[in-house]
Amino acid sequence: MRDAAPQTIYLADYTPYGFIIDDVALHFDLDPRKTRVKSRISFRPTPDASDKTFFLHGENLSLVSAMIDGTPVSPEVTPQGLTCDVPDAPFVWEAEVEIDPMGNTALEGLYMSNGMYCTQCEAEGFRKITYYPDRPDVMAVFTVTINGPHPVLLSNGNPVSSGNDTAEWRDPWPKPAYLFALVAGDLVAHPGSFTTKSGRKVDLNLYVRPGDEGKCAFGMQALKDSMKWDEDVYGREYDLDLFNIVAVDDFNMGAMENKGLNIFNSSAVLASPETSTDMNFERIEAIIAHEYFHNWTGNRITCRDWFQLCLKEGLTVYRDSQFTSDMRSAAVKRIGDVIDLRARQFPEDQGPLAHPVRPESFQEINNFYTATVYEKGAEVIGMLKLLVGDAAYSKALDLYFDRHDGQACTIEDWLQVFEDTTGRDLGQFKRWYSQAGTPQLSVTESWDHGTLTLHFKQHTPASAATADPQPYVLPIAVGLIGQDGDEVHETTVLEMTQAEQSFVFDDLGTRPVASVLRGFSAPVVLTQDLSDADRAHLLAHDTDPFNRWEQGRMLAYGSLLAMIREGKAPNKDWLAGIRAVIGDETLDPAYRALMLGLPSQSDLARALSEAGDTPDPDIIYAATEATRAAMADAFADLLPTLYRRHTVDAPFEPNAKQAGKRALSNAALSLLTRNDDGVLAQEQYDAADNMTQQLSALANLVRAGRGNKAVEAFEAQWKADRLVMDKWFGLQVMEADPEDAHEVVETLTKHPDFNWKNPNRFRAVLGAFAAHHAGFHHASGAGYRLLADWLIQLDPVNPQTTARMCSAFQTWKRYDADRQDMIKAELDRILSQPGLSRDTTEMLTRIRG
Ligand code: ARG
Ligand code: ZN
Repeated sequence: MRDAAPQTIYLADYTPYGFIIDDVALHFDLDPRKTRVKSRISFRPTPDASDKTFFLHGENLSLVSAMIDGTPVSPEVTPQGLTCDVPDAPFVWEAEVEIDPMGNTALEGLYMSNGMYCTQCEAEGFRKITYYPDRPDVMAVFTVTINGPHPVLLSNGNPVSSGNDTAEWRDPWPKPAYLFALVAGDLVAHPGSFTTKSGRKVDLNLYVRPGDEGKCAFGMQALKDSMKWDEDVYGREYDLDLFNIVAVDDFNMGAMENKGLNIFNSSAVLASPETSTDMNFERIEAIIAHEYFHNWTGNRITCRDWFQLCLKEGLTVYRDSQFTSDMRSAAVKRIGDVIDLRARQFPEDQGPLAHPVRPESFQEINNFYTATVYEKGAEVIGMLKLLVGDAAYSKALDLYFDRHDGQACTIEDWLQVFEDTTGRDLGQFKRWYSQAGTPQLSVTESWDHGTLTLHFKQHTPASAATADPQPYVLPIAVGLIGQDGDEVHETTVLEMTQAEQSFVFDDLGTRPVASVLRGFSAPVVLTQDLSDADRAHLLAHDTDPFNRWEQGRMLAYGSLLAMIREGKAPNKDWLAGIRAVIGDETLDPAYRALMLGLPSQSDLARALSEAGDTPDPDIIYAATEATRAAMADAFADLLPTLYRRHTVDAPFEPNAKQAGKRALSNAALSLLTRNDDGVLAQEQYDAADNMTQQLSALANLVRAGRGNKAVEAFEAQWKADRLVMDKWFGLQVMEADPEDAHEVVETLTKHPDFNWKNPNRFRAVLGAFAAHHAGFHHASGAGYRLLADWLIQLDPVNPQTTARMCSAFQTWKRYDADRQDMIKAELDRILSQPGLSRDTTEMLTRIRG
């Protein structure tokens, strides 16, 4: 049943729940179409609660019976839940409901995936399992019994008993319902174990479908590394005797941190050299760490309400990025994170979906699992750490864990521990949580007899979410590079608090070049009046690896924008600067591979529209292609050496060192392919013994228009592997010529293996298409129509995945009037569908503006 008129929920309306739960017992009799769930919940009134209404959430449940203290009652049931008269004293609520896991295609609550039962309860899925106060500030201990004819029956916590087709679990840690999980099916365990720093042995298992056993070892190792890292760096020890991870094929997001029973999208945990790329390995390691780290930042300390989502997500993303930096290369990780932030968060923050890191209202909370809450939320923590320093950060975190263990907290609680440990007033800093929009920071210089003054101005454009943004506290990391290339002033963090502010560096001999916003010390758009020569100087000499890369990128932007606007040839100084860096064998190959990247076409569209121009996707595409061709020519003599020298001959290992070499040799291959008709790519394809090499070769062959044979061979080889076939589908879309990308998509959607109800497969094709800038924005409007058709088809089946993909349209106001009209027509067509989900309705209404 759907809501007639979606309700808007406001942070300001928060009130505590009127009851405390001492104990929850759940009993499941599993059946694909008629699962019975019995609940027995001990309630007592919260002393002095202002709201004494007894309300339990419940959706898509058929209530079989309800009792209070053993006496049958007849609650008042609505599509959202029930209310009931209850005693003004402790009482026991018992209910039995029937649910339909097989019919649950939304993949929220208890559902079935390839014959196994699994759950996804965050944010508000538990209410589809039984009647309950489904809000994160209600925490309780759960005992769960599961009956069903399945070899594996799992829930949270520790096993109490198990018998034939039955198992009992008890989780001793009070938790909100969104952390509940249940899994049942014919699964195999890949076991492991970890001994905590206090000497407790924890059993670890990675549960997978039979056939996937060979893809578990890497994930298991990543889990152990994460457990060790959290002890070493944050002093956090695991707190149960068992930690289980389950891989599931049908999953809306990446993974979920259910207490002691993490559930993962199989794409975010299963890995083997033959089937996974280096990028897959790195992502899997990070997601396993992320979910594991939630055990403390999320589970032991959770969120009071869903407006506080960044409290756990921003912090946990920040922690997993620290972990990846420690495991791999910090510079490469930072650059990758900034590329991602600019690609996903900036468009959100600068368009109709802009919202603060802590939003103040929502209709459907699933629509707020965003790059702003997650990635900008993590940036805010990075800034806080930079401002207070590493030692104070550690002290504040220790206090946070001490003070709030077992609680459901707010951003105010989080900031308070920093105020208490440092004595700082974070009132202004808090704007990072309450205001939307990307700050625009500009810097100009003046030079006077050995004194350099940097004049900064910050300005944040108004948005629907924040009408009048006030100045932020900005940590601006600055260093100075002398004319001879030496650093004359090491990194110092300037603290900007005003709309305009100047900082002085004196006692300088000759005028240096200012390296500003090192390490991308604040998530802003920086405008710096540097000449191309100064940028090239920093590209050659900056000691900050981020800024060195950034100057190369800025030169690339300059070159591409001049080509787009004025038809200019590529900037020779930029090419020469990049050439010097990629040929420098003292530098990390992974870092050099990043230097060979270009801004994406949608980043270029964003840059043009930030400057007040209307981006033309065809011209952007052509300029990018011409620039790649110019790179291939300018580096022609260097590329074969780079390719050979960094091709890995040793047996495949998914470590950063080998991955970096492969990244560089494959970056070289993609340029070489432009001049050799795919000969080398075909050679690499034929010789490949791992997916990184195979997929890269395939992409190059398809791009060169020589891929037909390899595409067929690849399909024949990998037909039976769902995750590899996702790559096969996705690659053909990503590498399609813009002119016929929509036709490629239409053909692929008719492929017998295009199971559109599987979120991974849907995203592999339609998600890749939405990200194909020139193909999606085809002047005919065919791309818009095609995506809209599929969103209309998916919405009744899976609102969450549909709604997420609506963000493909969020940048629509950048484009010309014809494209805008066509997009608007598609938005209206989707919005006019009868019974459109709350998720999709909210997204499209906001996007349409
Ligand atoms: N807490 C999970 C994570 O980031 C995300 C789950 C979100 N699920 C959802 N349906 N909104 O690790
Ligand atoms: Zn998370």
